[in-house]
Amino acid sequence: MSTEILMKPKTSKKTLEDLLTEKRKFAPPKKFREQANVKTEKIYQEGKNSLKFWEKQAQELVWSKKWKKVLEWKLPFAKWFVDGKLNVSVNCIDRHLATWRKTKAAIIWEGEPGETRTLTYQQLSREVNRFANGLKSLGVAKGERVVIYMPMAPELPIAMLACARIGAAHSVVFGGFSAEALRDRINDCKAKVVITADGGYRRGNIVPLKQNTDEAVKETPSVTHVVVYKRLGKTQNTPWTQGRDVDWDELVANQTAVCPAEEMDSEDLLYILYTSGTTGKPKGIMHTTAGYLTGVKTTTKFIFDLKDEDVYWCTADIGWVTGHSYIVYGPLANGATTVMYEGSPDWPDKDRFWAIVEKYGVTILYTAPTAIRTFMKWGEDYPNRRDLSTLRLLGSVGEPINPEAWMWYHQIIGKGRCPVVDTWWQTETGSILISPLPGVTTLKPGSATKPFPGVEADVVDEQGKPVKIGAGYLILKQPWPSMLRGIYGDPERYKAQYWSRFPGAYFAGDGAKRDKDGYLWLLGRVDDVLKVSGHRLSTMEIESALVDNPKVAEAAVIGRHHDIKENAIVAFVTLKEKIGSNGAADREEVINELKAHVVKKIGSLARPDEILFTAELPKTRSGKIMRRLLRDVAEGRALGDTTTLADPNIVRTLKEKYEHLEG
Ligand code: PRX
Repeated sequence: MSTEILMKPKTSKKTLEDLLTEKRKFAPPKKFREQANVKTEKIYQEGKNSLKFWEKQAQELVWSKKWKKVLEWKLPFAKWFVDGKLNVSVNCIDRHLATWRKTKAAIIWEGEPGETRTLTYQQLSREVNRFANGLKSLGVAKGERVVIYMPMAPELPIAMLACARIGAAHSVVFGGFSAEALRDRINDCKAKVVITADGGYRRGNIVPLKQNTDEAVKETPSVTHVVVYKRLGKTQNTPWTQGRDVDWDELVANQTAVCPAEEMDSEDLLYILYTSGTTGKPKGIMHTTAGYLTGVKTTTKFIFDLKDEDVYWCTADIGWVTGHSYIVYGPLANGATTVMYEGSPDWPDKDRFWAIVEKYGVTILYTAPTAIRTFMKWGEDYPNRRDLSTLRLLGSVGEPINPEAWMWYHQIIGKGRCPVVDTWWQTETGSILISPLPGVTTLKPGSATKPFPGVEADVVDEQGKPVKIGAGYLILKQPWPSMLRGIYGDPERYKAQYWSRFPGAYFAGDGAKRDKDGYLWLLGRVDDVLKVSGHRLSTMEIESALVDNPKVAEAAVIGRHHDIKENAIVAFVTLKEKIGSNGAADREEVINELKAHVVKKIGSLARPDEILFTAELPKTRSGKIMRRLLRDVAEGRALGDTTTLADPNIVRTLKEKYEHLEG
C-alpha cells in the first residue's frame, strides 16, 4: 500500500472547505418518521450488542437448519451463523410464493429502446428454476463457478439466482470490461460456464458481448460451454461455435420449473466479484451465503425504508456490487418490486431517468453522485418535465457527495420532501455500513452520518489512535456479517491488504473526518484506487496496461479531481523511443494508440483522459514514483515536499510542460 497517503484525499479542495463549513441540517420530516420502518434511536442501543443485533436480523431469513454459533472470529477470518443451512434463492423467491406476493411484480425491466417486461415472483421462480435445471444439464454442480457477462436484462438476475439455487458461485463481469479483462477473470476463478448475450444496448449502440466472450474463451481452458441469451434477437449475425455455444431459450425449453434448491452452508460461497485494488491484478472478492444475505436484507429494509407498496429503483449496473446487493439480493429478499433499466440516462433524451420514475411511479431512487452532478449540468428542465411526486426517499452511493450536489438532489429531485441517504460501503463490505436511517437521523448535506447499528467504525490517525474530531483513516473495528471472506485464491493478500495497516482492524482505504456531533464525512480514497464516474479502477492496473504497449518504457497514472466524474485519469508516460519528426500529429497518434491499448486491456471505462509524455518520472532516491507530486502537477497545485526526490528538476519541468499544454 502507498505510504504517501493521509490527508491528501482525492476530493477537491472546494469540497473539503464545503464540508468544514457545512451548517445545514435536515431533520426527518414528521410524516416520514411516523411511517418509517425504524422510528427511534433505540436501534442504535440494540446495535451496541452487535452479535445479538445481527442474530435477531438473521432470524428474519428462512433457514433449513439453524446456526449453532453466531460468530467464529479468528482474526481476520470470520464465520457467521456457523453450521446454519439455507439457500439464497429460496429466501429471494420461494418464501414469497406462499404469500400474496406470488403475483406481485418482483422485477420491472425497461430496455434502452423502450421495451418493458414485468416478472412476478411466480414468473421469476419459473425462470430461475428452469435455468437452474439448464445449468445442471450442462454439468454445472454445487461448488463450481459460473461467469456472467450480460447486459442489464432480467436474464442477468435470473442467471445469478439460478446459480445460487444449485450452489454454484457466480462471478458477474461488468459488460464494459474488455475481452482480455473477461478472460483474466474467467481464468482466475476457473469458471466452467460463461453466460452472455448476443449484445446489449448502450446509448443506441450495441455492446458486443458475444464477440468479446468468443475472444476471451480462446484462452480459458476451464470453460466447457457458453450460454447465449438472445437479447438483440438478430441471430443471423451472432457468431456460433457448435458444441460449445448454447442458446438460452433452447437450453430452458425442455426444463421443468421445479429445481430443488441445494442446501447451502452459511459459509458456502455465494459469489466472487472482481474489484480493483492497489496492484495491477484485480481481486476476486468472496461473499458467502448467510452473512451476506443478512447484511443486505437488513440494510435494504432499514436504510431504504422498504415497504410492500414501494417501487424501488437502484440505477447501478449489476456488474458492480451495488447492483448485486441493492438491485438483486437485498430487494428480492424483502419481497420488493425492483426496477432495472438497461441503458444510458441520456437516451433518447436527458430526461430518461425521470421518465422512468414517472412511468412506473418509482418511490425510492438510489443513484450515484456522478449521475447527480451530470443531471445538474444538464439543468432542471429535464426533471421538471416529469412527475416525480411518487418519490419519497433518495439514496446516494459510490463516491463522496459534495454538499452542492446533495442539495440539488434534495431540492430538485426530492422537492425538499424526501430524505437523502448517503450510503458508504464497498465491494468488500457487501452491504452498507455507514448511512443515515431516514426516519431517525438528522441529515447534513455531504455526510454519510453514522455507522449502521451493529457496525463499529472509527477514524484513526497514522498510528491508529482514534481521532475524536478531525480527519484520519476510516477503519472497522469488528467483523460484520456481510464482510468479504477473503480474496479468491489469495488469503495472504487478504490479510496484507485489509488487516495489516492497523492491527486488529479492517482498513477501508478511505479518508474520513469526524465532526463535533460524531458525524462521519467520507473524503475519498487515500490509496491508489480511483473512482471514475463511480467505477473503481486502480492506477497500477492502468499502468500495467500502458507498459504492455511496446512503445512504453514506464508509466505513472494518477486520478485528477474532476467536477463530475470525481477522478479523471491522467497518465504520465515515458516512451522507449522519441516521437517521430511530425511533432504534434505524431504525438496525437501515439496518444490515441495508447488510449486504445488501455481500452483493449481493461475496457473503455479505463480510457485515460490525458496522456503526457515525459523523458523521466519523478522518483525518490529508492526509485519509487512520487504519484502525490504528479497529482499536484495535474491539479495545478504548488508542488508539495520534493526533498525526497532523486532529482527535483524532473517534476519542475513536468509541471511547466503540463501547464503549457493545458494552456
Ligand atoms: O471510496 C469509497 C467509495 O467507493 C469505494 C468502494 O468502491 P466499490 O467497491 O466500487 O463500491 C462502490 C459501491 C458500494 C469506497 O472505498 N464510496 C462508496 N460509497 C461512498 C464512497 N465514498 C464516499 N461516500 C459514499 N457514500
